[in-house]
Amino acid sequence: MKILFATSEAQPFAASGGLGDVAGSLPKAIRAKGIACRVVMPLYSDISSEWKDKMTYICNFTVPVGWRKQYCGLFEYNHGGVIFYFLDNEYYFKRSGLYGFYDEAERFAFFSRAALEMLWHIDYVPDIIHCNDWQTALIPVYLDIFYRCQSKFFNIKSIYTIHNIEYQGKYGFEIMEDVLGIPSNFKSLMQYDDCINMTKAAIEVANKVTTVSKSYSSEILDPCYSHGLDRELVHHTYKLCGILNGIDYDVNNPMTDEGIYKNYSASDVSGKQNNRTGLCHDLKLSDDNQPVVGIVSRMVRHKGFDLIKYALENLIKSGFKFAVLGSGEYIYESFFDYMHKQYPDRISIYIGYNKNMAKKIYAGSDMFLMPSQSEPCGLAQMIALRYGSVPIVRETGGLKDTITDCSLGSGNGFTFSSYNADDMANALHRARKIYEDKPVWESLLKHCMSCDFSWNKSASKYVFLYQEVLGLK
Ligand code: GLC
Repeated sequence: MKILFATSEAQPFAASGGLGDVAGSLPKAIRAKGIACRVVMPLYSDISSEWKDKMTYICNFTVPVGWRKQYCGLFEYNHGGVIFYFLDNEYYFKRSGLYGFYDEAERFAFFSRAALEMLWHIDYVPDIIHCNDWQTALIPVYLDIFYRCQSKFFNIKSIYTIHNIEYQGKYGFEIMEDVLGIPSNFKSLMQYDDCINMTKAAIEVANKVTTVSKSYSSEILDPCYSHGLDRELVHHTYKLCGILNGIDYDVNNPMTDEGIYKNYSASDVSGKQNNRTGLCHDLKLSDDNQPVVGIVSRMVRHKGFDLIKYALENLIKSGFKFAVLGSGEYIYESFFDYMHKQYPDRISIYIGYNKNMAKKIYAGSDMFLMPSQSEPCGLAQMIALRYGSVPIVRETGGLKDTITDCSLGSGNGFTFSSYNADDMANALHRARKIYEDKPVWESLLKHCMSCDFSWNKSASKYVFLYQEVLGLK
């Protein structure tokens, strides 16, 4: 069985969020199950020359984009046993940043078409193309419209994974023929709510549609979560399923991590204290015995920042300390900045992303806060567990599927269900009560660290799904 994993980003080459983490670790985990899996992604100019210098040029070819043809260079690099293909076109990808340009539809139409054209030039015909998010949603569409009738492509199946349903690839009809190159007789396939919707079209034509947790796969059938796509998904529930993401346990390992203050493990957590002290010292937080709460997140509304904004000052006044890292909407960035100026020894703020600092926060904090309004999967709570920072989460999507409340016996965190700042604060206060009982807290911390959210189980589920798609199950 051969899989081609198509993605617009992947660690360690170029990533902007959770999709990059998944694309950087799932293919490796699938290969570990004995299944061939290769990855295709754009060759962004943001990819550092450390990687570019190691890539091998294979060939170049032209790719139809609307009414014209565009150059595409093909490069290859074997990263830890996984072959990555990089598609080069400087007009589309020589820009600073991965996303957010005026011609986004055209850039990813090019990428999607090029990923298929590439198959004429390499010695790898996948049984399944596994597509991820709207940037690759046109792959199954192009496959059916333009390639299916050719013997090489005849049996290729497609899977479409939704990492976040908010981003769907919606555009006006005017780009359908000229830019996307999709003939007008496919208008009804592309149409949803009076515009083109690439995710809708992928849902329609892919053999299976997955999302990144079981809870999220039911939530998106509800208008509250679906960003308008519930009607489409309800019609296709027969091919929809949720498979929880995992995290890379080699990359996220407090026993070997060189970036943290002291290594530690579930069997000997003594080093956790050194990390806490080191973090408080570096961030200039007072080193008293009050809990340090870590927040590492994009600062956008659906991550629950309105709740944090509402409750933060009272939480600080009641003793909590916060180590915050992330960037996003100005309203939240400036709020944290202001709070830091008011309480410099109770809250630190790092605007931006810094991998090393993030790791130090996971290792040095006692609790980790994720009060998301919606969360397809969430990876930070799993990393927090691994580093023994007890998650405080809202029960939604992947947070609900990974964290159970301590009041339920063998819990690994503290949860609240309604999207309400007082309930969030209450969960933090319940956590602090336990935190004050050191032996009980230590056993909770060890329990958190021993939870297994590596890719092992979830990769087996993907393998099962691949077999199902190919009629082998
Ligand atoms: C998106 C989701 C996040 C998920 C990640 C990887 O970033 O918002 O919840 O963990 O994709 O699937």
